[in-house]
Amino acid sequence: MPDNALLTVEHVSKRFKVGRRVLHAVEDVSFDLPPGTTLGLVGESGSGKSTLGRIVLRLIEADAGRVLFQGQDLGKLSQEAMRKQRRYMQVIFQDPLASLNPHMTVGRAIEDALIVQQIGTKQERQEMVDEALRKVGLSPAVRDAFPFELSGGQQQRVGIARALSVGPRLIVCDEPISSLDVSIQVQIVKLLKDLQQDMGLSYIFISHNLGVVRHLSDTVLVLYLGRVVEHAPARELFRNPRHPYTRLLFDSILRIPKSSATRRKFVAIPGEMPSPLAPPPGCPFHPRCPIAVDKCKTEPPPLVEVSADHVAACHLAG
Ligand SMILES: Nc1ncnc2c1ncn2[C@@H]1O[C@H](COP(=O)(O)OP(=O)(O)OP(=O)(O)O)[C@@H](O)[C@H]1O
Ligand code: SF4
Ligand SMILES: [Mg+2]
Repeated sequence: MPDNALLTVEHVSKRFKVGRRVLHAVEDVSFDLPPGTTLGLVGESGSGKSTLGRIVLRLIEADAGRVLFQGQDLGKLSQEAMRKQRRYMQVIFQDPLASLNPHMTVGRAIEDALIVQQIGTKQERQEMVDEALRKVGLSPAVRDAFPFELSGGQQQRVGIARALSVGPRLIVCDEPISSLDVSIQVQIVKLLKDLQQDMGLSYIFISHNLGVVRHLSDTVLVLYLGRVVEHAPARELFRNPRHPYTRLLFDSILRIPKSSATRRKFVAIPGEMPSPLAPPPGCPFHPRCPIAVDKCKTEPPPLVEVSADHVAACHLAG
């Protein structure tokens, strides 16, 4: 683990049993996340982004590998020690309304996060709730509203306030803007960026919106069938993608249909993603790859450095 990493993910894998079969959701993923930085996580639907996010938060257990957060191996923590660590690692979901309890006022929902972490007296918690609301650009008067009384943008701000209230260092943002109108998306992205600068937060930012990923991320990791196919500083990756899958993914945004339902799926990449129940041998991308050669069908390409801090898993990318 590098000295300055807040989070280190080492060779993490996750397989799900589906009936008698095994689904390869995440395969041998490693990365570091320094404090105050953002890792963008991209890939088609089903590529394992949310599963990886959940493993980092230890909402599900990995089958192999380990996750080090603030120098601690999360897999070795007791339940109580993990509860304490959760204060520093929070999550923002795609659907803010679904992630808020409809029967709780906004103030209660945020205070609840503080109560779980045993933070503050009743009076102190009230002040912290108001402070969290202010930080996300909401009036403390919103405290008494129920989630359904708010707009989508306001609901997402409440979700962010709830995550912020406990003083996190890492927030996993799992498609936090995809359910919002475009004008609201811009506001939420700006808010996340401002909060990061003010509070030194680290983000894992999962999104199908590559423009926003490029804007927010320091490094970007591209997943395909649960595997890392490319990982590089964001500027470098968008300027010089080396893996054929990344190139097609980036090309596809220029040809995305306007309908948001299809936009999410990156339909412009030719061919279907193979089933993770039976990933292809060799390079998992070979059935769809426009430049595949014979050995791609049998030999899995290792993840190798193609330039400084830039790795790709392709026989022809070196
Ligand atoms: N609890 C589960 N049981 C069985 N399979 C699962 C489970 N959770 C996820 N999967 C499968 O693991 C794979 C990765 O899913 P995941 O939700 O991580 O993808 P994703 O990249 O987040 O996709 P999306 O962009 O659609 O959100 C998929 O094939 C999915 O069907
Ligand atoms: S290893 Fe072969 S099939 Fe895989 S991305 Fe590279 S060229 Fe395409
Ligand atoms: Mg997901």
